[in-house]
Amino acid sequence: MIRSALNSDKFSVLDFCRDTFSWGDYIQDVWDHWLSEDNLFLIEKQCPIGMCHAFFSTDQVWLEGIRIKSNFRRHGLASELVRHIELIAKEKQISFSFMLIDIENLPSLKMAENLNYKIFQTWNFYSISPRNNNNCKIQFDRILNLTNITQYVKSWRWLFLDENTLLSLYKQNKIIFSDEFGDVSTAILTDSEHFDKTLIVTLFSGSEQNTLNLLSYIQNYGAEKNYNKIQILSKEKLPLLNTLDHKITFNLMKKFLY
Ligand SMILES: CC(C)(COP(=O)(O)OP(=O)(O)OC[C@H]1O[C@@H](n2cnc3c(N)ncnc32)[C@H](O)[C@@H]1OP(=O)(O)O)[C@@H](O)C(=O)NCCC(=O)NCCS
Repeated sequence: MIRSALNSDKFSVLDFCRDTFSWGDYIQDVWDHWLSEDNLFLIEKQCPIGMCHAFFSTDQVWLEGIRIKSNFRRHGLASELVRHIELIAKEKQISFSFMLIDIENLPSLKMAENLNYKIFQTWNFYSISPRNNNNCKIQFDRILNLTNITQYVKSWRWLFLDENTLLSLYKQNKIIFSDEFGDVSTAILTDSEHFDKTLIVTLFSGSEQNTLNLLSYIQNYGAEKNYNKIQILSKEKLPLLNTLDHKITFNLMKKFLY
C-alpha cells in the first residue's frame, strides 16, 4: 500500500494537492525536486491517495508534504505514512524525526501529537521585499560567536548546523551579525534549492536595533543580488516594520525515535 513515487504519479497526486490550504499548495513546485531527491512516498488504493516526503540528514529525518486526499482522511493513512518513514529512519540508526506544522493546522497537530511528537520550538515566518538601502553596518561572523546556534533553515528544513556547514557558510560570507546596539542579532543566508531567486534567512534576533540593522542589510543584499523573494524564519517576534510581513507561525515538532 505504501511505495516510492514515480514520475507517472505526478498528475494524480497534484490533482488532490491543488486546494489543500486556503492559499492553494506548493507540491506542484517541489514534486520534481523531491522525486529526484528520492524518499518520496505514496499511499495508494488503486490510485495514489496520500503522499509524504522524507529528507535524511545527520541523525535526523525531516518529514514534509504530508497530504491525504480529502475523502480518505481519518482512516489512519497519514499516520501509516509517518510510521513507515520512522521505521526507515530507525533502520538507518537515526535518533530524531522532525516536522513543521502551522500552529493553526489543528488536524495535523493532533496527528503529530498522536504519534508522540512534541512541540520543540515555535518559529515565525516573515517575508520582506528586496530594496536598495546601503547605510547599515554589518559584520561577517567570527566563528566563536556562534556556539549557541545549533540549527539553521535550508530549503525549509531545519537542519543541524555542523562544523563543516558552519565553515562553508562562514567562508561564503553567509553568516552576518550586528552587535552595535546591545544583544547581538545574527542571520544565516541561504538560497532556496526549490524556488528560483528566493533567499531564505534564519534570523536569531537580539536587540531590536541590531535586528533592524540586519533587516536593512538583508533587503539591500536581496536587491543587489536580484532576489525576487526574501523569506525570514525567526524564533523571536521581529520588530514592526511596514516592509516586513508576518505570514505564519509554525511549531517545529520533534520525536525521539527510540
Ligand atoms: C493532516 C492530515 C495529513 C491528516 O491525515 P489523516 O490520514 O486524516 O490522519 P490520520 O487518520 O492518520 O489521523 C490520526 C489522528 O490525527 C488526529 N486528526 C486527524 N485529522 C483530524 C481532524 N480533522 N480533526 C481532529 N483530529 C484529527 C486524530 O486524533 C486522528 O486519530 P483518530 O482518527 O483515531 O481520532 C490530513 O488532514 C491532510 O492531508 N490535511 C491537509 C494537508 C495538511 O495539513 N498536511 C500537513 C501539513 S504539516
